Amino acid sequence: MSDQRVTVTDETSGKSLELPIIKGTDGEPCLQIKALPSTLGYFTYDPGYTATASCTSKITFIDGGKGILRYRGYPIEQLAENSSFLEVAYLLLEGELPTADEFKDFQQDITYHTMIHERLKSFIGGFHYDAHPMAMMAGVVGSLAAFYHDKMDMENPEHRMLAAKRMIAKMPTIAAACYRHHMGWPTAYPNNSLNYTENFLDMMFSVPTEEYKVSKVAAKAFDLLFILHADHEQNASTSTVRLVGSTGANPYASVAAGISALWGPAHGGANEAVLTMLDEIGDVSRVGKFIDRAKDKNDPFRLMGFGHRVYKNFDPRATLIRKAAYEVLEELGTTDPLLELAMELERIALQDDYFISKKLYPNVDFYSGIIYKALGIPTSMFTVMFAIARTVGWVSQWLEQEEVGTPIGRPRQVYAGAPERDYIPVQSR
Ligand code: SDX
Repeated sequence: MSDQRVTVTDETSGKSLELPIIKGTDGEPCLQIKALPSTLGYFTYDPGYTATASCTSKITFIDGGKGILRYRGYPIEQLAENSSFLEVAYLLLEGELPTADEFKDFQQDITYHTMIHERLKSFIGGFHYDAHPMAMMAGVVGSLAAFYHDKMDMENPEHRMLAAKRMIAKMPTIAAACYRHHMGWPTAYPNNSLNYTENFLDMMFSVPTEEYKVSKVAAKAFDLLFILHADHEQNASTSTVRLVGSTGANPYASVAAGISALWGPAHGGANEAVLTMLDEIGDVSRVGKFIDRAKDKNDPFRLMGFGHRVYKNFDPRATLIRKAAYEVLEELGTTDPLLELAMELERIALQDDYFISKKLYPNVDFYSGIIYKALGIPTSMFTVMFAIARTVGWVSQWLEQEEVGTPIGRPRQVYAGAPERDYIPVQSR
């Protein structure tokens, strides 16, 4: 906390309060307001927490105006170019890039925990074949707590790290099992000879009747997408994980709550909604109509994959994913008219005063679905892909909160209901 202050004066009472200024390594300074209620008798009002920091964190930094994203200080562009998803997972969890030996041990740790309890299969089997996989994921991940109560002393840092690694390791296995339930295929076991992303693809698409060769193009594209989706400061789902964790709930319950929050179309569910929107637009000639709808205050339609609470410039992840979409389609020797449509939609929107004035740019969800679709992932599984990657961010942020400690999250409210009144017996109503 700096020794600089901002003085707030209540013109009614004439009282003043000096609010300490908190400055981080980077980013906007904050005001420490906890003395406000006891000194001046005021709370603050900030629906959606648009101007409120909920915590101090060392994990990820975003500069929304400059389109900057860094994990533990490393620019996302450098990690996307040089790292792997599992190395980024280590970085987010531990705070430093691993040595070769550290990474080897970490990789073995994760590989060792990729299997799920056999009884989880009957749980997954209990869903309808057409159940939405995000509903399945939230239920199955929450149920993991039922299998690991022997290692759930959250005061024990080893139990905390074990729970974190278990979830990172098991998310691909659970996701693939949900997909195969939908397809009517038998569950595939992890293959310890494959790396994290290859193993996921093998569990998703291999069939017992023939050998499955993991596509190097697909493995590389998924590894990039997982890196880009791994963490993103205090977004809605991460804040949900922190809030649930602040009650002392176990990490499986906290991450299951994060999965549910991510599912919303305003958040991670947008990648599925973008493809639905592009399919509905159908042709470049109809782009103008949908742009007009997005601008119409009386129309609830929003341009999915556009806009962001923090980025008021290009989302750096969207720029990297757009480039990857081209490369994947080219390497697969295929085209997708939806990519051209998306590019045209972006071009027209970014020339429109409405989008320019409101600083609405493509976000991480705008192009990712085009790659998932090209790699054979059904639209209903797009947000599951996001959840696999974001589990690393969720557990890293949960661990950070557990390590530093936090009061239970409990926002206040402005009460706008009825004033005090007496009960009226039913015969008098
Ligand atoms: C993710 O927080 C994160 O970091 C999230 C995420 C992560 O990695 O965790 O980055 C992942 O969730 C990306 C966002 C995916 N969602 C979408 O693509 C859905 C479409 N986008 C919007 O719903 C919206 O842009 C949000 C929810 C993303 C952000 O909304 P804000 O910051 O609350 O902004 P707002 O809703 O107050 O909008 C500001 C103005 C409004 O107009 P006015 O009321 O000021 O006149 O911009 C308009 C909005 O109507 N607006 C849009 C729009 N997004 C905002 N208008 C049309 N289309 C849009 N997409």
